[in-house]
Amino acid sequence: MTTVRVEQGDITQSDADAIIVNLFEGVTTPGGGTGAVDAALDGALSALIADKEITGKQGETATIHTFGKLPARRVVIAGLGKRERFNTDVVRSVSGGVARRLRQLGAKRAAVIAHGAGIGGLDAGDSAQATAEGTLLGLYEFKRYRSSNGSSDDGKSLDDLVIVERDEHRVQTLAAGAAKGTLLAECAILARDLVNEPANVVNPARMAEVATDVANDAGLPITVLGREDMMERGMGAMLAVTQGSANEPRLIIMEYAGDPEHPENNVAIVGKGITFDSGGISIKPAASMWEMKGDMSGGASVIGAMKGIAALKPKINVFGVVPAVENMPSGTAQRPGDIIRAMNGKTIEVDNTDAEGRLILADAICYIKEVRKARRVVDIATLTGAVVVALGHVASGVMGTSQELVDSVLSASKATGEKMWQLPLFEEYKRQNRSDYADVKNTGGRPAGSITAALFIGEFTDGVEWAHLDIAGTFMSERAAGHVVKGATGVPTRTLVRLVEDLARVA
Ligand code: BES
Ligand code: MN
Ligand code: ZN
Repeated sequence: MTTVRVEQGDITQSDADAIIVNLFEGVTTPGGGTGAVDAALDGALSALIADKEITGKQGETATIHTFGKLPARRVVIAGLGKRERFNTDVVRSVSGGVARRLRQLGAKRAAVIAHGAGIGGLDAGDSAQATAEGTLLGLYEFKRYRSSNGSSDDGKSLDDLVIVERDEHRVQTLAAGAAKGTLLAECAILARDLVNEPANVVNPARMAEVATDVANDAGLPITVLGREDMMERGMGAMLAVTQGSANEPRLIIMEYAGDPEHPENNVAIVGKGITFDSGGISIKPAASMWEMKGDMSGGASVIGAMKGIAALKPKINVFGVVPAVENMPSGTAQRPGDIIRAMNGKTIEVDNTDAEGRLILADAICYIKEVRKARRVVDIATLTGAVVVALGHVASGVMGTSQELVDSVLSASKATGEKMWQLPLFEEYKRQNRSDYADVKNTGGRPAGSITAALFIGEFTDGVEWAHLDIAGTFMSERAAGHVVKGATGVPTRTLVRLVEDLARVA
C-alpha cells in the first residue's frame, strides 16, 4: 500500500516524480506553495490560468512538465473548486482523483502541499487526515482474482506521497493527521474487501474468521455463536432466515472496553451480515442479483470500525455485533406465511422471505440488549430498495427513536463526508406492519418502505436509545469519483468510528 507521510521542507525543492499544488476556482494570481511553484516556472501557472486552461474547478487536474526548472519532473495542479464550498471532504475527494491521475502517469513518488491548511482555513491535522484517506481510498482496487489486471495502469503504483510543510511547528500535527487518515482508510478498505469478495468466499463462517483475526490483532475479546447457541437462546428469526442455506449461521460479538469502570457507558453497533441475499423463496429477479453479495455491508463496516476503535482507544465501551446469515431458497427454506418467534417472544408473520434483514437484526438487537446490557444501539443495514428511491446513491437514510443519537450520527456523518439524511418514524406508519395472525408482519407494503422496515426493527429496541442506518443506496458505487471507486464504498465505516469517538467525548 501507498505510504502517506509528512516532511518539513520546501515543495519547490522536492525531487519527487511529481509535485502537487492546488488552485481555488477564480484565483488569478496563486499564492502559498502554488505561488512559489509558479514563480519557479517563470509564471507558467498564471499564464495558463489567464488563458483559462487551468480554472481551479473541483476535480480538475492539470499536468505541466518542469523541463529542469524544478527538481521534480512534473507539477500537477489540483482544482479545489469554490473557496466558499471548500471543506475536508473536498480535500478527500480531490486527493483521491489526484492519486489515480498520478498512478496513471506512472509516478512512484509524489509530494503535495497540505490543501487548504493556509488560506483555505482548514485545521492542518484535518487536512492531512483527509489527504491520507482520499489518497488511499482513491487508489483502492480489488484485483485479487485477476491474473493480469488488463487496465492501462497495469503494474503502476504510487508508492509514496509526502505532504511537504514549510512550518516546522505544524509538522507534528500534520503527521498525526496523516497517521489517523491512514488508519481510517485501512478500516474502510477492510470493509470494502469483505463486500467485494464473492459470496462463495465470504460466507457466515468466513465473516466470523475475519472478525476473529481483527479482534485478535487488536486484543479485543470476541464471541461467535452458532446454530445450537441460537436455538438455546430462542433466536427464531435468525434461525428462520438461515434454514434454507447450507452455510451455517454465525452471530459475531466483538467487544471493546474503553471505559471498564462504567459498563453502562456503552454503545452497540449492529451490522446486517446477509452474506448473500437471493430473496429466499420470495426470490429476486436475476438481473443485478449478484450485488446481493454485498448484503453484508453493514456487518463489514462494523468489523472495519472495530479495528479503528481499538486503535484510537476512546473512553467508551463498544459492542460490534454482526448477525451473519445466508438467505437462500431450498426445500428447507422458510415460506411466505410462516410464523416465527424472535428472542424477545414476539411472533412475526413472514409475508416476504426477501425482507430478511429486519429478521436477523431483530434477534441480534434482542441479544445485545438483554444479554450484554447495551444502552444504545446503532444498526447498519442494506435494508430496503425503497431508500434508493428516496435518497438515491448519494445519501444513506437515518431513522431512530433517540433524536439525540440520530443527531450524533448525522453530525459524525458531516465530519466524514459520508452523506446521511433523516427520515421520520411517525406512529401512523406502524399500522402497515400489522399482521392478522402474529404480533407483527415483516413487510409494510410499497409506501414508505424504508420507514416501515425501520419501524419493524423498532419493535425490538424497547429500553435502548436506538438509531438505524439504511445503506442500500450507498454501499456500492457504479463509478469512480474522487476517493470513491467502482464497487464497494466502505460506507459507513469512517462515520461509525467518528460516532464512537464523539459519544466518548460527551460522556
Ligand atoms: N437486501 C435487500 C435490500 C437491497 C436492495 C439492498 C437493493 C441493496 C440494494 C433487502 O433484503 C430486501 O430484499 N428488501 C426488500 C424488502 C421488501 C421485500 C419488503 C426490498 O427492498 O425490496
Ligand atoms: Mn432481501
Ligand atoms: Zn437483504
